[in-house]
Amino acid sequence: MPNRIERNSALPLDLLVDEAVFDLEVRHIWHDDWVFAAPVDAVSEPGDHVVVQIGRQSVIVVRGADLAIHALANACSHRGTPLVTESGNTRRFTCPYHAWTYGDDGALLSVPYSSTDEVPRERHGLMSYRTAQWHGLVFVSLNDDVEPLEERLALIDPYVRPLALDRLHHDVAGHATEVWNANWKPIYSAAIDSYSNFQAHAETIEPVSPTDAAYYLAGSARSTVTGGESMQRADHVVIAIPPSFVAVAWPDTMLWRAVSPVDVERTSVRIGMASQTPPGDAVAVNLPGWDAAFIDEDRTLVELIQRNARTPFVPGPLLDIEAALGDFHDYLAWRLTGADPENPVIAAAPGDRPEPSS
Ligand code: FES
Ligand SMILES: [Fe+2]
Repeated sequence: MPNRIERNSALPLDLLVDEAVFDLEVRHIWHDDWVFAAPVDAVSEPGDHVVVQIGRQSVIVVRGADLAIHALANACSHRGTPLVTESGNTRRFTCPYHAWTYGDDGALLSVPYSSTDEVPRERHGLMSYRTAQWHGLVFVSLNDDVEPLEERLALIDPYVRPLALDRLHHDVAGHATEVWNANWKPIYSAAIDSYSNFQAHAETIEPVSPTDAAYYLAGSARSTVTGGESMQRADHVVIAIPPSFVAVAWPDTMLWRAVSPVDVERTSVRIGMASQTPPGDAVAVNLPGWDAAFIDEDRTLVELIQRNARTPFVPGPLLDIEAALGDFHDYLAWRLTGADPENPVIAAAPGDRPEPSS
């Protein structure tokens, strides 16, 4: 067990390359917790489906004919062949190998050249997993006993609810996915790190949202909300839901990042946007100054950190301004070492800003 995860210090760098730690993370985080799958808009019509990787499990998230959202194992019940590799729309999933065919709820419907005695249909449907929605976002858990998502996010919900994010239209066609050469933890950390604005993002974020105008609102091991001033816009809220999801949100726009580990040193990073403009209209996102180049700046930094992960390193202290990162460390300690996830910090009531600290 990694017992060197502390709220007030940086992560030991060997945790970015250690295969045994990665296996623990798969078991106790990715296969055990809620993981962001997609915006609801990506599965709005019956048959709409997306393929998402949750830990080592490929999952089909599909809107059924019953209008419910199902999460199904993307592995044929015959010999395990993935049924689909891409998002799309279909009412039936037919295996490319021997054409066993499943409904959009995972039920096995037909098996060529077999009787129902030979393959009892009801025993060989696809495994299905829990799904839940929160403000237009779909989460999946491979763990049947996971705590309800609304409990998990109860602390931050009052800060996010006023934004009415489920009114926004997600630019589903505009989602971008990149594989970064870094462990998932520094990628998640970079996404919640407003301390870096003045330096790492001096030309991109800092002019529109300065480091010294960022503030912590509320958080715990379970989730965090921070805020910040945005030039010529309402203040934004940063929504951090470990292990997979971070968004910057205004009442009319949201930019989100989702991380999913490929292996211990590579991570898939999905980037998406939502706005008040229905997709297809000319201007989908109106964010003057919020140049998406800031995401490339994060990529460069985390890939550099990863290169140092095999060198001796004594973790440095985290500052007060890095409290959101402290919450993420509490999350890791909760999942990996069984530490208590409680002790939420509430710096300001919903709708308020904390007092300036100077
Ligand atoms: S592996 Fe899918 S039908 Fe045989
Ligand atoms: Fe950053």
